[in-house]
Amino acid sequence: MSPISTYDFLNRKRRGQSLDPEAIADFIAAYLRGDVADYQMTAFLMAVAIHGMTKDELAALAQSMTGSGEQWKLRDRFDFIGDKHSTGGVGDKVSIVLTPWVAACGVKVAMLSGRGLGHTGGTLDKLDAIPGFQARLSREEIERCVDTVGCAIATSTEGIAPADRRMYSLRDVTGTVESIPLITASIMSKKLAMGASALVLDVKTGSGAFMRELDRSRELARSLINAASGSGTRTEALITNMDRPLGIAAGNANEIVESFETLRGKGPHDLYEVTKAQALRLLVLSGRYDATSADVALENAIASGAAIDKAKAWVAAQGGDPSVVDDPSRFVKPSRVLEVRAPRSGFVSAIDTYRAGMLAVDMGAGRRRAEDTIDFAAGIMFDRNAGDAVTAGDVVARVEIGARGDAGRAFDRELLDCITFADAPPPAMPLVVEHLT
Ligand code: URA
Repeated sequence: MSPISTYDFLNRKRRGQSLDPEAIADFIAAYLRGDVADYQMTAFLMAVAIHGMTKDELAALAQSMTGSGEQWKLRDRFDFIGDKHSTGGVGDKVSIVLTPWVAACGVKVAMLSGRGLGHTGGTLDKLDAIPGFQARLSREEIERCVDTVGCAIATSTEGIAPADRRMYSLRDVTGTVESIPLITASIMSKKLAMGASALVLDVKTGSGAFMRELDRSRELARSLINAASGSGTRTEALITNMDRPLGIAAGNANEIVESFETLRGKGPHDLYEVTKAQALRLLVLSGRYDATSADVALENAIASGAAIDKAKAWVAAQGGDPSVVDDPSRFVKPSRVLEVRAPRSGFVSAIDTYRAGMLAVDMGAGRRRAEDTIDFAAGIMFDRNAGDAVTAGDVVARVEIGARGDAGRAFDRELLDCITFADAPPPAMPLVVEHLT
């Protein structure tokens, strides 16, 4: 087949006609060579955001983006290596708990994680709150860390999926982030370039998720799983509840403290359940455990202290100060804490998790612009979550003001506006909504 010109390629997609996988691969390759301009790539991204992609088109796009840089194939280097990815939420510290949990059960884990995006926090920003912790690791350093302690969490390197980095920066400013095929290709290009043996995806659903409706979350989960088919990385997804913040803490230092408590089995039950569900899947996918023995191994690792010892070894292996694992007083503290009290008795019927996440960002826990710095002490503690009973005057949340102060905003009042109270609890929504394989 003769090659199609960029003009005809874009025209076909604009009209909603299908594209040959080879044409997509050529287009991505030409973009990387500089033969396709950013404005042409943007036209393509917008056409995809409008018309979607067929399964074959998406597979070609994800593969071309994966192949645009290094392909580590870590699964060839280790007997088994697990990976986990979350589509992002508020208070989502699952990776920080899951990684040492799974490693303490003798199953290796490596993750290339991200910074906060929009209203959602980022694992790497949270880990940066640990004094000395180093997330900028080379591939060799990640492998060494996995060899010595069984796990590593690092930032994606320049060499991983460079096409995604360039395309994402165009999507970010052209209203083309929210497209299931583009999200799929973006996430999976990075995951497949690392090349774990198995990947568990935590696809969030609800008011604090990028996909609020269950149908869309399911569609994204299916799309992510399909994009991994034939890649050598066995991929599953759990759809989990992000209609409420996960755990109590949303921020950075406060989330690390809560992660260490949960590692010991003493954290909030929702975080425990959601993390455990994913950890068990990785343990089973490793082939070393079945569902029952995985549960026993994990409970033993938590109860015996093996999980918390693994966390200390992991933090130290990545240059962090392991004494913070036992001593939360070593973390940077908020300069002021404002209590948010229930104006009436009844139940917390809903928390607008997106708005609450944006408030945390405005307080300095996240970034409005890429160049913003994080205030590690700033954050929110959700002492009561959706469904909890309250008496008028109870503290339902605490706003932790960091070093930067409150910039003249009444964050406590704004947070109260995110919380709805009612006479009856909301209909129960499970924490783990669905498991897709
Ligand atoms: N995370 C990514 O890495 N890419 C997206 O497109 C959305 C979320």
